Amino acid sequence: MGRFITIEGPDGAGKDSVLERILPELRKHLSAELVVTREPGGDPIAEQIRHLILDPANTAMDERTEALLYAASRRQHLQAVIEPALKRGAIVLCDRFVDSSIVYQGAGRGIGEQAVADINAFATAGRVPDLTVYFDVPAAVGLARIQAHRKNQQFDRLDQEADAFHERVHAAYIRLAQANPQRIVTVDATPALADVSAAALAVFKDRLSEYWTED
Ligand SMILES: Nc1ncnc2c1ncn2[C@@H]1O[C@H](COP(=O)(O)OP(=O)(O)OP(=O)(O)O)[C@@H](O)[C@H]1O
Ligand SMILES: [Mg+2]
Repeated sequence: MGRFITIEGPDGAGKDSVLERILPELRKHLSAELVVTREPGGDPIAEQIRHLILDPANTAMDERTEALLYAASRRQHLQAVIEPALKRGAIVLCDRFVDSSIVYQGAGRGIGEQAVADINAFATAGRVPDLTVYFDVPAAVGLARIQAHRKNQQFDRLDQEADAFHERVHAAYIRLAQANPQRIVTVDATPALADVSAAALAVFKDRLSEYWTED
């Protein structure tokens, strides 16, 4: 059985940027197959479910319906992509997983963190990440990064409701990290990208030491 690692953090925390920087190092040093994925992970059924959620024609979708569909899409991706890779002995890196639903749907949208955790427990049937690397930035920092790189200045002003949403998401991430200190390792993602990347790489090296080779 391989290792299941998830990457979490608010929008604009730098998850993609850091992964892009450290993936060559991980590929070089890890002795096992490395599978990098994100939901829906290229699985056609998971993709169709995602399509339902994201279809602008479905703006009337109920929040609980949406949470159930996210859990359904996750289940399909887990069974089609993640579980087979783990069975092969791979190290699976997944950009966002159950924690994202708990903080965005549960806390952000206000459905309830426990309720979202419960439906996801059904979806994942006991599969919990061995390690979650959580990139921590205050909501305002993540949003400022996204805004700075947005081309269309028209969308530059986020209203107070959006700010409050992202504050709830960030606070919920902090609570999750505090409640799961063994699983969730927090990386301060406010410094420069090179520093955050170095810190993240050190976490991988430490937590995957039995796979780490120097050459
Ligand atoms: N440490 C950093 N310092 C300054 N800017 C950064 C840093 N990390 C990332 N950025 C910039 O912030 C923006 C968002 O980064 P990125 O897309 O990697 O975040 P993300 O966590 O993957 O976000 P999302 O959750 O929206 O996918 C990008 O424009 C990126 O260049
Ligand atoms: Mg990203």
